[in-house]
Amino acid sequence: MAGVTFTDIKKSYGDNTVINSLDLEIKDQEFMVLVGPSGCGKSTALRMVAGLEEITGGTIAIGDRVVNDLAPKERDIAMVFQSYALYPHMTIRQNMAFGLQIRKMDQSEIDQRVNSAAEILGITQLLDRKPRALSGGQRQRVAVGRAIVRNPSVFLFDEPLSNLDAKLRVQMRAEISKLQHRLQTTTIYVTHDQVEAMTMGDRIALLKDGDLQQVGTPLELYSQPANSFVATFIGTPPMNLLRAELVEDGAAVSGQGFRLPLNDTQRAAAATAPGREIVVGIRPEHVVHGATEGGRTAPLTLEVEIVEPLGHETIVHGRLGSELITASLPPDLSPRPLEPFEVRVVLDELHLFAGENEIRLTP
Ligand SMILES: Nc1ncnc2c1ncn2[C@@H]1O[C@H](COP(=O)(O)OP(=O)(O)O)[C@@H](O)[C@H]1O
Ligand SMILES: [Mg+2]
Repeated sequence: MAGVTFTDIKKSYGDNTVINSLDLEIKDQEFMVLVGPSGCGKSTALRMVAGLEEITGGTIAIGDRVVNDLAPKERDIAMVFQSYALYPHMTIRQNMAFGLQIRKMDQSEIDQRVNSAAEILGITQLLDRKPRALSGGQRQRVAVGRAIVRNPSVFLFDEPLSNLDAKLRVQMRAEISKLQHRLQTTTIYVTHDQVEAMTMGDRIALLKDGDLQQVGTPLELYSQPANSFVATFIGTPPMNLLRAELVEDGAAVSGQGFRLPLNDTQRAAAATAPGREIVVGIRPEHVVHGATEGGRTAPLTLEVEIVEPLGHETIVHGRLGSELITASLPPDLSPRPLEPFEVRVVLDELHLFAGENEIRLTP
């Protein structure tokens, strides 16, 4: 078992810098999710750990061993790809055993490991089939099995569920989480899907354009996003962001069609902003209808654009001046498109970001 440490990691392809300077520590036995939009450098970071991509600068250590110059097979990692990468002419058993055979492991040990992994993953009855006779979900299980039999120090997953349909993805998500808890193998899991990140990770590292935006537990990223990018990337529907200005000597923020009084903590935080421009973040669940118990609220009048009844809640998209606001409301409310609709904002739940650089101000 071992942690993984990125220290001042840089990666360029020719003149194109993909990762500027990445510092990140994944603890022993931790499940770390690397998440971010397509093209932000997640796969590149993972492939550098695996040894499939050269490192332009800095060091990567697995445990206390710097692995920059080690060949992939010397790094004691196992990687699972989105494409499964199974050998089509081999049976499932041969696919799972192959990596151990080229390491010249005893056949009896190989059999024992393959049987045990197959049992854990519920694919014992498939061992004598070829990959083409398996469904997508079964193939992905085999790919995971091939990683497990290696008993590596670190698992690396690169978007392993992207080729599965939505229902199977949810099921495999839970299976991989359970498996990792059971094996307690340090894991780096790459995905562009924030729901996967939130539900699977002990911690999440969020990247944008190769720059680390924030590292923390799922709830830390949700409730204290470091900037407006994190705020809107994590959570569905995304957080509402409103351009505003500090008014009344810093006692409130005001913008097109709204005035929101600040509490003492928010007021002190807003006072540290470099200018008077503030970006106010409001989660859709903090746009409510009617009074809430005890919480201070302020009114907004939306012009309703779209109403999405989801059964357990209704998502309402409305216009406030030139801005769009999304509210998650109880299902019994049915505002009508093009009509005005009164909502209230829960004031103690406001997120404040500096207008200049959209970095978080509130604690
Ligand atoms: N072999 C390569 N040569 C040149 N550019 C590459 C290569 N691999 C990736 N890139 C570039 O690096 C950036 C990050 O890619 P990648 O790590 O695959 O992103 P992600 O996995 O987050 O979608 C992209 O802009 C991509 O075009
Ligand atoms: Mg990728």
